[in-house]
Amino acid sequence: PDLDSLVGLPDFEWAARRKMNTSSYTYYRNGAAGEWSYRNNLEVFQRFRLRPRVMVDITNIESTLPTTILGHDFSAPFFISPCARAGYAHPDAELNLVKGAAAGNILYMPALYATKSVEEIAAAKGNSSQVLFQQVYLTENDTETLQLFSRIEATGSKAIILTVDSAADGNRHRAKRYGVGSADSSYSYLTWNLYHKLSNMTSLPIIPKGIQTVDDARLAVQNGVKAFMISNHGGRQLDTTPSSLEVALEIHNEAPEIFKQVEVYADGGVRYGADVLKLLALGVRAVGVGRPFMFSNVYGVDGVKRVIEMLKHEVAIDAANLGVGDLKKIGPQYVNWKSTNVW
Ligand code: FNR
Repeated sequence: PDLDSLVGLPDFEWAARRKMNTSSYTYYRNGAAGEWSYRNNLEVFQRFRLRPRVMVDITNIESTLPTTILGHDFSAPFFISPCARAGYAHPDAELNLVKGAAAGNILYMPALYATKSVEEIAAAKGNSSQVLFQQVYLTENDTETLQLFSRIEATGSKAIILTVDSAADGNRHRAKRYGVGSADSSYSYLTWNLYHKLSNMTSLPIIPKGIQTVDDARLAVQNGVKAFMISNHGGRQLDTTPSSLEVALEIHNEAPEIFKQVEVYADGGVRYGADVLKLLALGVRAVGVGRPFMFSNVYGVDGVKRVIEMLKHEVAIDAANLGVGDLKKIGPQYVNWKSTNVW
């Protein structure tokens, strides 16, 4: 399909399915076990109705999209989540994602298990001031960790995203059916004690990715994180884990001060402007998008840029129709948090 014929983020999966071979497509599309979390991530946004306000001046909404993430300026409150193996969609792999992110001025978090190296990705930055946050998996070997951290620091990365939701391999039935291997790592030794040790091994902030309860959100704050990311790994690790919206709501109900104490990011199933708005309404600072960017890469950098433009546009028009004149002022009152399954 022609890139111009695609109208929204979900269309990129449909288009990529036609362009990619089955095993590559399956690796991206995959979820754990019965894929309940994968589907819930997508479906949960529809269970909470918006509460649009009318007769509000929304004429400047577009100018309120830019935000800061850990103090760095970006044009929108969404970013590219770390996903392994971009080379399955395009020979230039992650280079298209880093260039697209530069063109759209959004944050990109390259995955460690990328097709291109940390250095190759950094060398493709659109300009020297482009900000990247590097995702990592670690081994138990401190020497290897130190080497990896110094490579990451040398590329100018501004933060380290430490994936904490992968204590073991994801149990991925779909991938096994198609004979597709797993690239995401497994370990079981990652603890808050280790987090402190790691923090002393680098000057960069280490941001845990994969917080799924208010209990761990509290512990993250107590352990001095500057930010953390709510995520269930796109439903690829442990099936029947909650979506980011459900976790953000749990934090909002039980420990709302957390959203003011540290920056909270969230990803999983975000496909529409209104999805972004619901997460921001709870106090999430920025929202990650994974698969749509991976699929968009079948069109190379143009596809990546198109996803950014589409989502920016949807966030702006949805905020306008919601009666939010300034995105910074969105709050929980714009959503009915009583969940319903009936339409
Ligand atoms: C991922 N994700 C991921 N996360 C991570 O921390 N390290 C990794 O190496 C990967 N690899 C990876 C590969 C692929 C193909 C996908 C689809 C996802 C998870 C990713 O960062 C993010 O949490 C989810 O993709 C968000 O959900 P959506 O937007 O894909 O629904």
